Amino acid sequence: MPDKIKSAIFISGRGSNMMALVDAARAADFPLEYVVVVANDPEAGGLEWARQQGIEAIAISHRDFNKDREAHEKAIDSELRKRGVEFICLAGYMRILTPWLVGQWSGKMINIHPSLLPKYKGLHTHERAIEAGDTEHGASIHWVNAGVDDGEVILQARVPILDGDTPDALAARVLAQEHQLYPAAVRKIFSAL
Ligand code: GAR
Repeated sequence: MPDKIKSAIFISGRGSNMMALVDAARAADFPLEYVVVVANDPEAGGLEWARQQGIEAIAISHRDFNKDREAHEKAIDSELRKRGVEFICLAGYMRILTPWLVGQWSGKMINIHPSLLPKYKGLHTHERAIEAGDTEHGASIHWVNAGVDDGEVILQARVPILDGDTPDALAARVLAQEHQLYPAAVRKIFSAL
């Protein structure tokens, strides 16, 4: 079995997709080893969970960088380099990245987005899909490029929209699929190499 690729997960909140990735990475044949979890918010709930699993979890608050997004990213990037990170999974990381960070990690950074991209880039995806009268919705794992939620799609999960669905109910059903989808997409990327 080849060595696992040292990887980071970026979160901003509860981190349920991070948990799914960390759990999947316990399998001997999972291609990634998560060596650090990074949050832009020190209050992100997922940080404590990661620490309990024995994974280093660090908060680098964007508020400490006086709106200089690139300086914030440079601080994060330097922590990743120190740890030999080679791959990044964004998992509910709610900051828009600058072209600088995207350029540093081109072909080595993926994201999860709660819609069937290219539909509903940005926020409030569940509400928008219901309001549009769509019959299905879902989630996508995609490569990160300089556009927001714009890179090539790797894998998607589809979820039917039910009569009387609310954004919260739909979001919960999509989230359950996300937890399967993200590890499957990681496996797909590395099995194709
Ligand atoms: C997930 O639904 C993820 O798809 C979404 O945020 C949620 C994070 O939940 N990501 C985005 O909206 C990115 N634009 P989690 O913290 O429990 O993984």
